[in-house]
Amino acid sequence: MKILITGGAGFIGSHVVRLFVNHYPQYKIVNLDKLTYAGNLKNLTDIENKPNYKFIKGDICDAEFIQNLFATENFQAVIHLAAESHVDRSISNPLEFVITNVMGTVNLLNAARYQFQKEGATFQKFYHVSTDEVYGSLGKDGMFTETTAYDPHSPYSASKASSDHFVRAYHDTYKLPVVISNCSNNYGPYHFPEKLIPLAIHNIKNNKPVPVYGKGENIRDWLFVIDHARAIDTIFHNAQIGSTYNIGGHNEWKNIDVIELLCDIMDQKLGRPQGTSRALISFVKDRAGHDLRYAIDASKLQRDLGWMPSVQFAEGLESTVDWYLNNDVWLQEVTSGNYQNYYEEQYHKR
Ligand code: NAD
Ligand code: TYD
Repeated sequence: MKILITGGAGFIGSHVVRLFVNHYPQYKIVNLDKLTYAGNLKNLTDIENKPNYKFIKGDICDAEFIQNLFATENFQAVIHLAAESHVDRSISNPLEFVITNVMGTVNLLNAARYQFQKEGATFQKFYHVSTDEVYGSLGKDGMFTETTAYDPHSPYSASKASSDHFVRAYHDTYKLPVVISNCSNNYGPYHFPEKLIPLAIHNIKNNKPVPVYGKGENIRDWLFVIDHARAIDTIFHNAQIGSTYNIGGHNEWKNIDVIELLCDIMDQKLGRPQGTSRALISFVKDRAGHDLRYAIDASKLQRDLGWMPSVQFAEGLESTVDWYLNNDVWLQEVTSGNYQNYYEEQYHKR
């Protein structure tokens, strides 16, 4: 089977590519990524020379390029992760999110539809990776299930909600074999340091203020990224066509509690007196339209397909801190922008 994975040089996509390349030598994995600021080929240096892996630089929004790619590569499946993913950026530039997340997804759906409908077609699956943010915001109680009504509040979540609707529409209208999953907040290695946890690690390490929006009372349900990649593997191989699965860690934390825990872990790892890093916490202006609470009910995934998170938060957070401390060069290259030269240096000459 030849599988197109989009967005594979980003945070979650790189873990999914790595898992598929390493676990399924019988598959051919094509990683398509535009390499925006969020795409970093250094996330995948450990597998870049494997015989069942190929990287292609390209834009999911370029209809002609995507049609040609499908025609030449004859994919049997797509796992679609490419997206603009940062809520704060979506507030500054909503249109970019509509273009990539909505139009880019519809472009891919069109190419997959053609591949599925052509004579002698072997196309099996279009797996769309989405977020729990499409469901909106919870009060103190309750959890998102697969039947919770969509109620997105940020331009990011509105664009992802729209893309989910298009994926379902292609299933209902053209019988395209689709699967969707909606996952809670991820954390772990290779997370771009604009998101809360890697930003805090980076700032604490460099003795810079750690910005906490509002009073830090917003709640997120954190899942270790490798558990998300495992869930994608399970769903890709076993979910019924047309189905949706929520993915989450049953692991709700107030932002301020995550940051305080991180500060304490960092003090211990850096040999600083306990309490040193907490002094860096800086409460700043709240995000506009900031969703109060996300919590995922992932019981359908456990019941139907036997998936459960395997990494406890304390253990996952500590290993994430260790990863960032041991991969200082990765972090330095990301913050300096050097990582963006790697494609030219390594790939262009091939
Ligand atoms: P990311 O921002 O780290 O990576 C996105 C990748 O997509 C980058 O490599 C980028 O270069 C690529 N990309 C962007 N625009 C492109 C285009 N036009 N053509 C081709 N490639 C393009 O994102 P992430 O955090 O890894 O998220 C991956 C997916 O998972 C997204 O669809 C996101 O909505 C979803 N998701 C993320 C989380 C999370 O906590 N990060 C949780 C649930 C779902
Ligand atoms: P983020 O990592 O951007 O993910 P998302 O907005 O998709 O949940 O933010 C996680 C939470 O942390 C969210 O409630 C916003 C908050 N936050 C801060 O308090 N400070 C920050 O600097 C950032 C980036 C986020």
